[in-house]
Amino acid sequence: MNELNSVVDNAKAAFEQARTPADLENAKALFLGKSGRITEMMKGMAALAVDEKKSRGAAINLAKQAIEAALNGRRQALADAELQLQLQAEALDVSLPGRQCGQGSLHPVSLTLERIEAIFGSMGFDVAQGPEIESDWFNFTALNTPEDHPARSMHDTFYVEGGTASAPNLLRTHSSPMQIRYAVQHVKRHRAAAGAGQAPGLFSGDMPEIRVIAPGRTYRVDSDATHSPMFHQCEGLWVGENVSFKDLKFVFTDFCRTFFESDDLVLRFRPSFFPFTEPSAEIDIQFQNGPLAGRWLEVAGSGQVHPNVIRNMGLEPEKYIGFAFGMGPDRLAMLRYGVNDLRLFFDGDIRFLSQFQS
Ligand code: DAH
Repeated sequence: MNELNSVVDNAKAAFEQARTPADLENAKALFLGKSGRITEMMKGMAALAVDEKKSRGAAINLAKQAIEAALNGRRQALADAELQLQLQAEALDVSLPGRQCGQGSLHPVSLTLERIEAIFGSMGFDVAQGPEIESDWFNFTALNTPEDHPARSMHDTFYVEGGTASAPNLLRTHSSPMQIRYAVQHVKRHRAAAGAGQAPGLFSGDMPEIRVIAPGRTYRVDSDATHSPMFHQCEGLWVGENVSFKDLKFVFTDFCRTFFESDDLVLRFRPSFFPFTEPSAEIDIQFQNGPLAGRWLEVAGSGQVHPNVIRNMGLEPEKYIGFAFGMGPDRLAMLRYGVNDLRLFFDGDIRFLSQFQS
């Protein structure tokens, strides 16, 4: 009996030491396998008398059952431990905050365009949009820039497919073609309203003033810290029977002071040349305070609309007169936000772009 007890104890100890299911199966073989201790003992019974066989057999069976119970217990314990490890490894911490979708923001140039539109909108200007692929006629010819005019080469134009050799298509080099597009539609509408729908010739009847801005993308073969091949312009046009340079000065000064939220901003109209205006002026601004104080900064071209351009709008220049300007919203955004390299706006780096919220 003692011998059986110690076999059971040894088996339990061996099973306890097994760290893996494979170890456990090896330990099991030592006791219950073909030449394991219990099996050997069973075989040993052959030599015993019938009486002895009965009691010895019953005792060995008990020992075998005890070993099997210990084996199953240990199997279960190892399986539980393994499951525990797996659960830990795959644990989900449901208390972690979720990954949030970043909140988008408007591009600084879009914010600037919205600001420009709101200010001119409050002064009664319409906002118009036009095509970026433009014809030679709207981009140059209608704006009083004849084919061999040197002003065309000032513009380093991207020509695109379509159109004809004498009237090629191009990426608009400025927003000025919108002057013609918008005015022609305006005149057409009001000519019809005035009952002069089909009448030939330039319109000299009455119509409401043309007051519009046209912001949008423009393109030139140009790239450095202050020029990008794609940039923005915002055109302005005000045409009526009695619109003068004085109105241009007033409107643009008011715009700049509102845009930069600064009453002591000074403007300078510097004589210049554009084929579509006569006289023409560059508009420079000067801050009296802040980091840019005292420097003249060019923000727009402007002028009184040339009579030839008034004609190309379908209007009689003896009756209609106006002024136009073209400004650079990218430049205005750089000044407003203190950005010194234009290309930063168009590199698409979210770290840079997300800094502008208003
Ligand atoms: N289109 C001109 C440019 O891109 C800017 C400009 C100058 C627009 C004078 C105008 C204007 O409307 O009157 O350089």
